[in-house]
Amino acid sequence: MAAGSDQANWSSRWTFIMAAVGSAVGLGNIWLFPFKAGQSGGAAFVLVYLAFSFLIGVPLLMTELSLGRRGRMSPIGSMKKIAAEEKRSPLWGLIGWSGVLGAFIILSFYSVVGGWTLAYMIKAIMGFQGLDAAGATSMFSDFIGHATEPLVSHAIFMGITMYIVARGVQGGLEKAVSLMMPALFGLLVLLVVYAALTGAFADALAFLFTPDFGKLTPAVVIDALGQSFFSLSLAMGSIMTYGAYLNRDVKIGPSALTIAAADSTVALLAGLAIFPIVFQFGISASGGPGLVFMSLPIAFGQMPGGQIIGTLFFALLSMAAITSSISLLEPAVSYLEHSWKINRKKSALTIAAAAFALGILSALGQEGNMLGNVRIFGQSIMDAKGYLTNNIMMPLGGMFTALFVGWFVSRKAMADELALTDAQFRFWYTIVRFVAPIAVFLVFLSVTVL
Ligand code: PFF
Repeated sequence: MAAGSDQANWSSRWTFIMAAVGSAVGLGNIWLFPFKAGQSGGAAFVLVYLAFSFLIGVPLLMTELSLGRRGRMSPIGSMKKIAAEEKRSPLWGLIGWSGVLGAFIILSFYSVVGGWTLAYMIKAIMGFQGLDAAGATSMFSDFIGHATEPLVSHAIFMGITMYIVARGVQGGLEKAVSLMMPALFGLLVLLVVYAALTGAFADALAFLFTPDFGKLTPAVVIDALGQSFFSLSLAMGSIMTYGAYLNRDVKIGPSALTIAAADSTVALLAGLAIFPIVFQFGISASGGPGLVFMSLPIAFGQMPGGQIIGTLFFALLSMAAITSSISLLEPAVSYLEHSWKINRKKSALTIAAAAFALGILSALGQEGNMLGNVRIFGQSIMDAKGYLTNNIMMPLGGMFTALFVGWFVSRKAMADELALTDAQFRFWYTIVRFVAPIAVFLVFLSVTVL
C-alpha cells in the first residue's frame, strides 16, 4: 500500500492519534527518560526536557505533520516535492534523508533494547521472587554480557516489527496500536500507586521535581533537548510519514498537543514508578541503561501478584516499544515503496534485515560482551549511535525543518494546512522562525564551544 493511495490513510482521527502516541511513547519514556534523568541529576533536567517538549516540540510536531500531509510521500519524497512546489533548492530533500537514515540507525539499537524487554517478559513469567539489588544487577549484567539471548531477542523483536509494517497501515499499524497504548497507561498508573505506597516516594518526588539549577551544564541541556526530540519522535521522518496518511479534516494543532501531553505524562509516570524503588533499595540513580531492568524486578519480586504484574509490565513495555519501532521502520519502507517501486513486503524485509545486522554491534557492545570494550569517541557502540542520532541528527534536523517552513515555504500554504486562529498561528510562526532555530543553535554552540 503506497502513501497517497486510498487505503494508506488512517481510518479515523482516533487511530491516527493512537499511532502517533504509539510512536512517541516507547522505550524513550520508560527506559531512556529515567536513565537520562538519573545521570543528569534529576529535576533540572526534567524541567528543561518538559520546556523543550512543549515550547519547541509541539510546534515542530505540527510542522512535520503538515509537511507530511502536504507531500503525501516518504519524508524524502515529500521534502523534495514541497521544495519544488515552493521553487526552492532540492537540497532541502536532505532533511528527509537525514530523517530516514536517522530512523534506521535508531531502529538498529532500539530493537536490541526491545529484545531486552521481551527477554525480561519471559524472566518475569519465571518470577523475580527474592531478588535484591545485587541480584537484580547481576541478573542484568549477566544477561547483556552474553551473546545468545540478546541476539535471539533482538531478532524476534525486529521480526515482529517487520511483520506489522509489511501488513500496511490499516491492516498492521492501526490494529497494533489501538489496544496496547491504553493498557500500558493503566498499568503504569498502578505501578506508581504501588511505588507510592511502598517505596521512597518522597525522595523520588524531590529528585524529579526540586531542581538544582547548578546541575544545568551545557551537556545536560543538550541531553534534555535530545531526549525531548527522541521522545516525541521528531526529525526522524516518522511523524512526517504518519502525517502523509492523515486526512485533511484532522486538526493538526490539537493532535500535536495531545501527543506531547501523553508522551510527557508517560515519562513522568515512569519516573514515579521507578525512582521510589531505586532510592529505597539504594540502587545508583545514574546506573545507566540497566536502570529499569535493575529496579522494577526487585519490586515485582516483592509485591503480591508480582509475577503477573511483572509479566504484564514487560509485555506492555515490549508493545510500546513495538508501536515505536514500526514508526522507525516505516519511513525507509515508504521511501523504497514510493521512489523505488519495491513492494511493501520486500522493502520491510530488506530494511529490517539491514537494521538487524547493524544492531548486532549494539547487542555485542554491552559491558562484558564480545565488543564491550570497543569505544567510539569514548562511548560504547550503543551510546555512540544514540549520541549521533539524539544529540546531533535530531536537533539539526529539527532546526533545518523549522528554518525551511519558517523562511522558505509560503506563509499562506502553512496557514491553510494548520488551520489555526490568527493568534495561534502567529505564536507557532514565531517559534518556527526564531525561537526553535535559535534555541537549538545556541544549545549546539554551547556544547561545542564550552
Ligand atoms: N519516540 C520513541 C520513544 O520514545 O521510544 C522513539 C522514536 C520513535 C524516536 C520514532 C524517533 C522516531 F522517529
